Amino acid sequence: MLDQIIPLVREAGKIVLSAHDIASHTHEKTSAADLVTEYDMAVESFLKERLPPLLPGAVFFGEEEKENADPRRGWAFIVDPIDGTTNFVRGLQQSAVSVALALDGVVEYGVVLDPYKDELFSARRGGGAFLNGRPIRVSGRRLSEGIFGMGTAIYKREYLAPTMRLTEQLFRRSCDFRRLGAAALDLCNVACGRTDAFFEYSLCPWDFAAGSLIITEAGGRACALDGSPLPIDRRTSIWASNQVNWEILGELEV
Ligand code: IPD
Ligand code: CA
Ligand code: CA
Repeated sequence: MLDQIIPLVREAGKIVLSAHDIASHTHEKTSAADLVTEYDMAVESFLKERLPPLLPGAVFFGEEEKENADPRRGWAFIVDPIDGTTNFVRGLQQSAVSVALALDGVVEYGVVLDPYKDELFSARRGGGAFLNGRPIRVSGRRLSEGIFGMGTAIYKREYLAPTMRLTEQLFRRSCDFRRLGAAALDLCNVACGRTDAFFEYSLCPWDFAAGSLIITEAGGRACALDGSPLPIDRRTSIWASNQVNWEILGELEV
């Protein structure tokens, strides 16, 4: 299945790289912090047309869809056409195409492509995680020698205060932190050991479905901030880390 999904994700990446004059193809969804571009739409319609036929009966659950099918039953493709849209609009070159394939609510395959670096992360449940075909592992670094990634839950401003409190707690225990603006890449950075933990108070399944499988297949772990498993059909908070930093979650005020 990965052999069939990956070429389509790479095609989608070409659409992202072909973008020009992005500002005039950008629209506000709910505010200036919530943007969609015609490229997000183009990538999503390309993947919506090409992914489901790979598995007859599979449904499509995408960020830009008006009416999504229930991803908890049968096979479901869970797609963020461009994760990191604001980065994309601003030319920061830190965005990804994220595709997960779940069976009965359990993610079985995950692919995240950073088209700018030509880095393709992939995982199959039980089959390990890879970056451009080479196996990857989470780091063995303690947070006191490490850095963590965080997201600001931009579409849920009510999480501002807890986000800043948790950032402060983790910053005091670590060397530094990063806010990259593309959650799928944040998760892949933990998976390949570039960073050592990540949190965000509110993400959608298309942001984390592929990346969370890639982390667990790389030897790390991911759950909601209250310790519960990540749901596949709704917003959730997330804590993702390597093994050595996992227990820190229980010591934090979230
Ligand atoms: C967003 C990015 C961002 C995260 C937001 C996501 P989008 O996705 O992943 O890093 O902080 O919570 O919604 O809107 O750029 O696809
Ligand atoms: Ca996203
Ligand atoms: Ca998106």
